[in-house]
Amino acid sequence: MEILHVSAECYPMAKTGGLGDVVGALPKYQSRLGHYAKVVLPMYRTKYLYQKEWVVDYKGYARMGDWTFEYTIIKEKSVELGFDLYLVDINGLLDREKIYGYDDDTERFTAFQIAVVDWVSRWEHRPDVVHCHDHHTALIPFMFQYCYSYQHLRMVRTILTIHNAQYQGWMGWDKSVYIPAYDTWKSGMLEWNGTINPLASGIKCAWKVTTVSYSYLDELRQESNGLESLFEYERGKCVGILNGIDADVWDPATDSYLKAHYTVDTISEGKQKNKTIICQQFGLDVKKPLIVFIGRLVGEKAADIIPDAIKSAIYHHGDGANYMVLGSGDPFLEEELRRMAVNFKGVYNSYIGYDEALSHLMYAGADFLLMPSRVEPCGLNQMYSMRYGTVPMVRSTGGLKDTVVDMGDIDGYGIRFNHASVDDIVYSIGRAIRVYQDKTHFNWMRKHMMGIDLSWENSVQQYISLYESL
Ligand code: ADP
Ligand code: GLC
Repeated sequence: MEILHVSAECYPMAKTGGLGDVVGALPKYQSRLGHYAKVVLPMYRTKYLYQKEWVVDYKGYARMGDWTFEYTIIKEKSVELGFDLYLVDINGLLDREKIYGYDDDTERFTAFQIAVVDWVSRWEHRPDVVHCHDHHTALIPFMFQYCYSYQHLRMVRTILTIHNAQYQGWMGWDKSVYIPAYDTWKSGMLEWNGTINPLASGIKCAWKVTTVSYSYLDELRQESNGLESLFEYERGKCVGILNGIDADVWDPATDSYLKAHYTVDTISEGKQKNKTIICQQFGLDVKKPLIVFIGRLVGEKAADIIPDAIKSAIYHHGDGANYMVLGSGDPFLEEELRRMAVNFKGVYNSYIGYDEALSHLMYAGADFLLMPSRVEPCGLNQMYSMRYGTVPMVRSTGGLKDTVVDMGDIDGYGIRFNHASVDDIVYSIGRAIRVYQDKTHFNWMRKHMMGIDLSWENSVQQYISLYESL
């Protein structure tokens, strides 16, 4: 099958979180099964763009409202990613440094989608599947179905994967002119609660909708930022498929970001060496358990309670553990996390910013990884940490619930708690400190986790079966 993934992120070209990881891995594993998977994303001015060679694949013109724009599709020349990577350049609109966060994001991602649809409509053949990811690409199923110029794409199968339903891409009806001319009787297919809602439109118009874990799909019917009844109504076309991890990139035996590699047989020495590097760099005590948080500093991740939780854990458990935070996001929180590093020197430290290399070192060197997420559609951090023998401490929600078994249960290897609250975190840290001292149990947990199959192979097959069922 020929599968075109359309996304705003794809590692290593552009990543702010798990969406980038998934779109950088899924097509590679699909290609390995003998399918022809490609990815198209906007052209951002990232490091990867300048490191690689690109060839022009297509140049065309399209319209957004009364603006006619030229777009250029470029393709990465090498085949090192394991799939073909295409970028869309629209002068002045897409060639920016950041992926998101501009005032004209609505215009940027709408024009991107129009350009992709226009490009596909010029192919001499039709792809078997167009696989859209999140709201930035969720208007495409509508365009295939109802825009007059693209009617010949109606029978192309479309899939929408929801990585995060919190963000829906809302836009006012004044922006409806951006969407290529369509049958206005079908306006309802764009609408939800009085606005154009791209994510809702994608749910209505895509042939199938997937979420990145089973539990998240259940949760969306209870709580999905206004879309609850839509998920209930469309439940027949929705399927949960758990993400995998890219075992080529995330393998402590070969990880190119690590100096000290290890396997399950050398886990104790290997982790100790990585921990020593972190502790020396950040002034922490290598003899104490190291508990880390890695992620976007936003409410969904419950990052706002991290400062109080760490302060309270230090109060209750003394200097029984070390803490380290890597993240960026809310500026007030960033400031607070930086300030705490002065007050709690030797016990806590932080790196505020985005640093891929440091994240790998932390998965390898930490003893525990804390994820108190309020919402977690799948979560990759806990799976990376398991692969690196780091015990996940997670709130029981979404994909965290589907991937982590509490150490109190049979064959359990993680720590689970129910509420995104300071009390639950402090209590869980107490459990972590105790199990860290029980070396036999702790080592068993680490080794057991490393042996769990978290690879993409199984999930990729589920996607292929889903495409084939259409
Ligand atoms: P989300 O996509 O919601 O942010 P995931 O758990 O799916 O959450 O994926 C997060 C990804 O982003 C992981 O690869 C994680 O290591 C990475 N990440 C998040 N914040 C940072 C950071 N500040 N520096 C480096 N990597 C980060
Ligand atoms: C989103 C979710 C995260 C998930 C990732 C990849 O960013 O917040 O839970 O792991 O997408 O699917």
